[in-house]
Amino acid sequence: MMTPMIPPILNFATGNLGGAELVEKSTTLADLQGLFADPHAEAVLSPDTQLYRVAMLPGNGGEGDLNMGVTYLEAGRVGQEFFMTRGHIHARAEQAEYYFGLCGRGLLLLQDMAGVCLLEQVFPGSVHHIPGHVAHRLVNTGETLLSALAVWPAIAGHDYNAMGECGFAVRVLAGEDGMPHLVTSDQQGM
Ligand code: F6R
Ligand code: ZN
Repeated sequence: MMTPMIPPILNFATGNLGGAELVEKSTTLADLQGLFADPHAEAVLSPDTQLYRVAMLPGNGGEGDLNMGVTYLEAGRVGQEFFMTRGHIHARAEQAEYYFGLCGRGLLLLQDMAGVCLLEQVFPGSVHHIPGHVAHRLVNTGETLLSALAVWPAIAGHDYNAMGECGFAVRVLAGEDGMPHLVTSDQQGM
């Protein structure tokens, strides 16, 4: 009698991924040097501060295959600016992606090739379709870890330079009440 295999397990309540050998990548503040708006606030924090990690199921990376990974983005701020992922557009820019909110609260910042930005709330159960040709970044606006599941074509790749010097046109800062508010990246007084 054939015994059914136990597949990898994603705990949707906690975001924990287990039951498989995972490929993990961790990103620190030093890795994102200069990405946050306030260099003085950045200098106060340890460069080793871990901002996020991504745990991925190993895929074969071939045409037609899909990748899946969970991003765990810490709660915190560099000055007034909430912790965020580096953000990217896919190297194969036409390739789309889905994000699913697992735990915590945040925002998904989307920016199309014309520089037009759109924000979606991320929360447990939220579903986000990221079309091709749209850059994307997660921002943790809550006080707890934000985790989100992503599924994307293995051939998509990541282009971290395509956004150019200007990067995303919108930043998410905490107001005096701690609530998120948006500023355009060229706005002063951050
Ligand atoms: C994959 C994807 C996510 C991100 C992850 C980290 O296409 O969008 O798995 O890679 O949230 O963000 P980046 O790659 O911008 O550092
Ligand atoms: Zn992506």
